[in-house]
Amino acid sequence: MKGNYWAYKNSELKYTIYEPFNVGEDVCIGDGTKIGSYCELQNGVIIGKNCSIHAYVYIPSNVIIMDDVFIGARVTFTNDKYPPSDNWKDCPPTIVNNSVAIGAGSIILPNLIIGNNATIGAGSLVTKNIPPNQMWYGSPARFIKRILNENFSCDTGI
Ligand SMILES: CC(C)(COP(=O)(O)OP(=O)(O)OC[C@H]1O[C@@H](n2cnc3c(N)ncnc32)[C@H](O)[C@@H]1OP(=O)(O)O)[C@@H](O)C(=O)NCCC(=O)NCCS
Repeated sequence: MKGNYWAYKNSELKYTIYEPFNVGEDVCIGDGTKIGSYCELQNGVIIGKNCSIHAYVYIPSNVIIMDDVFIGARVTFTNDKYPPSDNWKDCPPTIVNNSVAIGAGSIILPNLIIGNNATIGAGSLVTKNIPPNQMWYGSPARFIKRILNENFSCDTGI
């Protein structure tokens, strides 16, 4: 997929993306993933299987989303801590591990790792790595509690 896409809902694809949206080059989207309208996925973004990404989500380059991730409306990822610069190209990616849920309107600062099965409350400003199985929220987001759920798969990031 390359370029600006409008009205693109193709039954041959195994994922669904609603119009209008903007997808860069070399974007990978896993089977079963649904992406709401007005989302931007920049060059090289990787999104795993069975994710649910709501409307107006912004995902710049250097962000990797694993499987079964929920991203509420108007969530904004970032990739350049001291803009404007090209330094982000040399920085580690932001990684959102399996089964994470990110509440609507949250902002995720660059180069962070969100652990498996973490929950981020609505409207949070995430400035630090979040370990697996924890709930964080607020601005800046703080640890709230552990999530008691043993049904998570292996962690790829932390
Ligand atoms: C994070 C969340 C799951 C917490 O739910 P909960 O554990 O039931 O929390 P409660 O509603 O009992 O609230 C507990 C306290 O945290 C506060 N709080 C809850 N969510 C908060 C948030 N996102 N940011 C800041 N404070 C929050 C409440 O005001 C309350 O404060 P108090 O103790 O001073 O009264 C939920 O509030 C949330 O943000 N869900 C995401 C919703 C969303 O974006 N959905 C997207 C699909 S539409």
